[in-house]
Amino acid sequence: MKLVGAGPEDAALLAALHATCFPPGSAWDAETLAALLALDGTFALRAGEAGFILARQTLDEAEILTLAVAPAARRGGLGAALVRAALARVAAAGAKAMFLEVAEANAAAIGLYAAAGFARIGLRRDYYAPGSHALAMRRCLSG
Ligand SMILES: CC(C)(COP(=O)(O)OP(=O)(O)OC[C@H]1O[C@@H](n2cnc3c(N)ncnc32)[C@H](O)[C@@H]1OP(=O)(O)O)[C@@H](O)C(=O)NCCC(=O)NCCS
Repeated sequence: MKLVGAGPEDAALLAALHATCFPPGSAWDAETLAALLALDGTFALRAGEAGFILARQTLDEAEILTLAVAPAARRGGLGAALVRAALARVAAAGAKAMFLEVAEANAAAIGLYAAAGFARIGLRRDYYAPGSHALAMRRCLSG
């Protein structure tokens, strides 16, 4: 599926998609997404209404902020394609590494990120809530 850039004007669509992928209280609303997308260095790529990735680049470091693939579109390679496209975009813009945090219990996403070359660099305890830890992961883009 073709990936296209998404901007603040797409915030409602992205929020609807996010709500299908994260529990109430964790999903990001349109206002939050629009504010993020208005920041320098933040960008989103989306595949129609099936999925999107939101990422940020500051100088030579980049970070995946969120990744969401609609339940009906999963296990077809879209999540991996979104990560690959974001990696290519930040590498072309001079990033030397990309980082992310992912819930320690999220085996699907951890599997995807590991397959995309991300390696665990640490554990952030109680990152999401008490008892809900995050793995910090990094993918080198240079050398
Ligand atoms: C995680 C998520 C983005 C994966 O999207 P997807 O389009 O289904 O992923 P892909 O089809 O590209 O899968 C790529 C690889 O990831 C791993 N993977 C994906 N889903 C998996 C699952 N349910 N269980 C185990 N491994 C999984 C596999 O290694 C897979 O490769 P394979 O299909 O050849 O085995 C999707 O499940 C999702 O949106 N989940 C809810 C939101 C979320 O957790 N976001 C990430 C945290 S920010």
